[in-house]
Formats: sequence, structure tokens, C-alpha cells
Amino acid sequence: MQRRALITGVTGQDGSYLAELLVAKGYEVHGLRRRSSTFGNERIDHLVDVGDTAVRLHYGDLADGNGLVRLIREIRPHEVYNLAAQSHVRVSFDQPTYTADVTAVGTLRLLEAIRDVQDDTGQQIRFYQASSSEMFGKVVETPQRETTPFHPRSPYGVAKVYGHWITVNYRESYDLHASCGILFNHESPRRGETFVTRKITRAATRIKVGLQDKLHLGNLDAKRDWGFAGDYVEAMWLMLQQDTPDDYVVSTDELHTVSEFCEKAFGRLGLDYREHVVVDPRYFRPAEVDLLLGDSSKARRRLGWQPQVSFEQLVDMMVDADLELAHRERSVSRGVVGRERIAA
Ligand code: NAP
Ligand code: GDD
Repeated sequence: MQRRALITGVTGQDGSYLAELLVAKGYEVHGLRRRSSTFGNERIDHLVDVGDTAVRLHYGDLADGNGLVRLIREIRPHEVYNLAAQSHVRVSFDQPTYTADVTAVGTLRLLEAIRDVQDDTGQQIRFYQASSSEMFGKVVETPQRETTPFHPRSPYGVAKVYGHWITVNYRESYDLHASCGILFNHESPRRGETFVTRKITRAATRIKVGLQDKLHLGNLDAKRDWGFAGDYVEAMWLMLQQDTPDDYVVSTDELHTVSEFCEKAFGRLGLDYREHVVVDPRYFRPAEVDLLLGDSSKARRRLGWQPQVSFEQLVDMMVDADLELAHRERSVSRGVVGRERIAA
């Protein structure tokens, strides 16, 4: 029987890679999309309107619990992947209530919808929650593993802790097959342009082709464990294929600084980042997460998962994709050195 999956956040970075993976595995894939004044489907354009294997999109929002119940009743998915969130840490300081409503309570709304439909129909619905290394925040041990206590440092981190624990609670209370992937930072050419890696690769390549001159960044000393999003969605799927639900750290187990990312990205283009990067306090955060380094040995051992793309390959892949984009941009806006793009 063909398996059906519902992905919330299908228009985001991870949603697009996961949709590709599930289509390739023969799933009937459904995606939740928000209504917007623009299309906003760029990352999944190649997966919609392509005949039988197309991803089917449904309007909905994690803020709308009734809509979620209706949708799950209609689709009757075997697997639900909850990737939707207000996912930007800096923005969560500006929109803390909204972030809590979507990223925290939105998870509860989805779990309630699943419980409702599962109770009515008797069909088991497996659930994946996109938990985050941001929950470790002001870390109490390094590297961080599944048993490391949480100390979130942003409204986003706090909201993710709620999403994580309410998922664990529904697993324990209602025997739901619900798993949380505690994913460390993962990037790709499809990464949102206001996250630091993509902000760097977009700017470096625009500088290379003469569209921009400076790049304003915040804390260059922050340390992260950066992997490739395409590798990480495989771990999400593997979690839902296990007999028993559980929580797993997913990471490369390697640490790099923001300035190291700059050095590599600008270096690939023959540029010295120190001549272009300006430290701008506007991008500092009220409370910073200085260091995140994962220990993914449980996922490697139990899921048989391991990352395929190295840090160097990831930087090169993002720079090369953005260089093509910058060349295309330059051919439409010939000559003028543009303003730096607004980013968080
Ligand atoms: P992303 O690119 O920012 O995508 C977020 C998705 O959520 C988008 O599809 C967005 O829709 C959707 N969304 C936002 N608010 C919504 C709402 N109210 N109702 C329904 N959908 C809504 O994020 P990502 O990098 O793919 O990350 C996927 C998930 O993993 C997120 O939950 C994130 O917090 C979590 N996570 C990410 C990382 C990472 O390093 N990437 C690490 C750990 C955990 P629009 O396209 O309409 O904006
Ligand atoms: N965004 C941004 N913009 N970050 C900057 C900048 C800048 O101009 N300058 C320095 N940084 C630093 C941030 O202060 C942070 O320490 C680090 O770069 C990474 O920032 P982001 O790329 O915005 O990612 P994040 O670690 O805050 O959050 C991402 O990873 C989490 C997992 O740990 C997001 O994808 C979250 O959704 C995810 O949960």
C-alpha cells in the first residue's frame, strides 16, 4: 500500500528536501502551506504540478487548530512531519508571542488533531517533531547529547523546548508513535537568506560580481556544528521507520566559528573576508548561544545514519550555487553596486 505523509513547513528549506526524499521513496506527499500574497513555493516548484508524483499542497496554518483537524481527517496520513515554525532566533526576540503561538502551541494543536483522528479512525499516525539544538542554549556540557539538560536562550529556544516536551508527553500519555529529532544547524543552497551561512554566501558572491561591497554581521565568534540539510532529512525519515519512537541528536559532531565560515566562503572566491565584513552590533542578540556541538552517536548507532557532506563541501556547494545566482542578478541589474540586502 502506498504510504501517505503530511509535511508542515513544506515550503521551507527542510520541507523541500524531505518532500523530495519521500516522493523518491514512493510516498503520496501532502504539504501544508500558508496563504501569502506571493506564491512562496520556490523551493518546491519542481515537485508540484508534475503529474502523479506531485506534492499536493493544502492551505493551513499551525495557528488554526480546526483547520489541522479537518486536514488530517481528509488526508489520513500514516506519517506527519512537523517542520513548520517561526524558525529565526533573532526574530523571536522581536516577535516572542507569535513565536510561542506557532512554534510551541502550534505543535500542541497538531498533536491534538492527530490524537483526535487516530482515536476516531483507529489508524496509527506516526509523528516527527523538529526539535532543535537551540534548546541547549547556554550549554551545561559539551558535546550535547540527548541527556544534556536544556537551557534555552531565546523565545524561539523556549518555544522549541515546549514543542519537544509536549511531544514526549503525548508519546507517554497516549501511546503515540512520536519522535523528536534534536537537529543541530543544517544549511544548503535553499537556506533562508537571513541565516548566517546563507547571508555570508549570498554577500560574498554578490561582492565577487560587483553587486555589493560590504557585509554587516553580528557575533563572528559564535561556534556551530553545521551540516547539510539534505543529509538531515534522511534522519527524520529513519526515526519514523523504527518500531519504537525515541529522541535523537542529529549533528556532524564538528565545530566551526562564523569567521571560519566567512574565511572559507570568501576564500573560495579568491577574496579576503576581512576586507569586506563589518561587525555591526545591530545583529547581536539580547542573549547569545556561544557554542553548539553535537554528539550524534545514538543516531549513528541505532538509525544507521551518518552525514555525507563535509563542512568544506557544504561551504563550496552554497558558494557555487549563489555565484550562479549572483551572475544572473548582475545580468538584470547591470553595473550598479547595489545596497546590501536587508537581513536579520
Ligand atoms: P524554514 O526554512 O524557516 O521553514 C519554516 C517553514 O515553516 C516554512 O515552510 C514556513 O512557511 C512554515 N511556517 C512558518 N510559520 C507557519 C505557520 N504559522 N503555519 C504553518 N507554517 C508555517 O525552516 P527550516 O530551516 O526548514 O527548519 C525546519 C524546522 O526545523 C523548523 O521547525 C526549525 O525551527 C527546525 N530546525 C531547523 C534547524 C536548521 O538548522 N535549519 C535546526 C533545528 C531545528 P513560509 O514558507 O510560508 O514562511
Ligand atoms: N542570522 C545571523 N545574522 N546570525 C549571525 C549574524 C548575522 O548577521 N552574525 C553573526 N551571527 C551568529 C548568530 O549570533 C548565531 O550565533 C550564529 O551566527 C548562527 O545564527 P543563525 O544562522 O541565525 O542560526 P541560529 O543558530 O541562531 O539558529 C538556527 O539553528 C538552530 C539550531 O541550532 C536556526 O535554523 C534555528 O531554527 C535552529 O533551531
